[in-house]
Amino acid sequence: MESQHDIPPTPAERIIEVRAPSRSYDVIVGAGVHSNLAEPIRRALPGARKAALVVDAGITAESMIDVLMGALASAGLEVPENARVSLRPSEADKNLATAQRILHAMAAAKLERNDVVIVLGGGVLGDIAGFAAASYRRGIRWISCPTTLLSMVDASVGGKTGVNLLVEGALHKNMVGAFHQPSLVAADVNTLSTLPDRVFRAGLAECIKHGMLAGAFGDAELGRWTKANLGAIGSRDPATLVELVARNVAVKARVVVGDEREESADAAAGRALLNLGHTFGHAIETLPKVSPTADPTLAPLQHGEAVALGLLCATRCAELMKLIGDGHRELLSLTLKNAGLPTRAYGLPPSAEIYERMLHDKKSAGGVLRLVLPVGEGVCRIVDAPAKDIVMRAIDAIRA
Ligand code: GLY
Repeated sequence: MESQHDIPPTPAERIIEVRAPSRSYDVIVGAGVHSNLAEPIRRALPGARKAALVVDAGITAESMIDVLMGALASAGLEVPENARVSLRPSEADKNLATAQRILHAMAAAKLERNDVVIVLGGGVLGDIAGFAAASYRRGIRWISCPTTLLSMVDASVGGKTGVNLLVEGALHKNMVGAFHQPSLVAADVNTLSTLPDRVFRAGLAECIKHGMLAGAFGDAELGRWTKANLGAIGSRDPATLVELVARNVAVKARVVVGDEREESADAAAGRALLNLGHTFGHAIETLPKVSPTADPTLAPLQHGEAVALGLLCATRCAELMKLIGDGHRELLSLTLKNAGLPTRAYGLPPSAEIYERMLHDKKSAGGVLRLVLPVGEGVCRIVDAPAKDIVMRAIDAIRA
């Protein structure tokens, strides 16, 4: 007979308050939180009558959608049939045409200024639908229900929304967008139980990134805690996932509240620090033939995989510049391996070509390369104009 002790208790729900200058909102993290959303929705959205529901078409569990629909109905929100949009966007169709589909649905369902968009899905969908919410009638409120680890710990918090732009054959990531904070975020870790392993692990890269900078944002222990709990995280233990997501959201919230629009000139405190690993990562992520293993069918890299490799490059760069002692890259490499993330990229073009791509990253102003580099345990800073040969040697560190 099953004793009471065999049934793991539902982990306690955590609420992180994001007090951004433009809007304050709660991020609710827990196991099964989508079932109890009616009251938080009512509180967060006074005056709302209708909702558009934008769902990732990859969510095959009808029950997940039904649970959310039930919460919306209990909160007194009508979801008109023509305001339900199901999309499975990739980076390639994260564009204005896809945003327009959502905008058409909102207009057809006659959503008004007080109404709301609910997004159930990953970061790409959240970026597009959040952007549609930011644009419709010059901005209506939106709720994010992230269903991937990556979107829980990163995209759903902080209000960056937008789409890519294809200019003369080159994809410019997030080139069109708006800062538009959600009114509520509900991260239900139960949605992670069915996530494909590769997608789940890609999200861990952003958590490892947060651990590398959290010392300046109130959680100096995050990196060590993550390393020590990779086993329980990998087996998707609900209580560990709640702790992981809540701590990462809290760090991201502190960063964002201090510099909502990424305008800070402080090299050691602004939102730009969240780009750690991203300038290297972006330069290799859109290359169609770069793979995380010797198997070329695994190309291209997932965003999180590119970030993991970018973290290694940034750490090697910091070692070469003597900003940190040798050995950090080895330790990071071990952590990434334990997290099931790549430490080598297969099919990389020459480093000079990657360097050129980095120079054109939208974070690098006026042709001057800007990198975020680790300078100590849990501490990073912005470094402008690092020497080209050092950057190229850092790229070589991930070459298979
Ligand atoms: N993902 C980086 C940021 O939200 O600023």
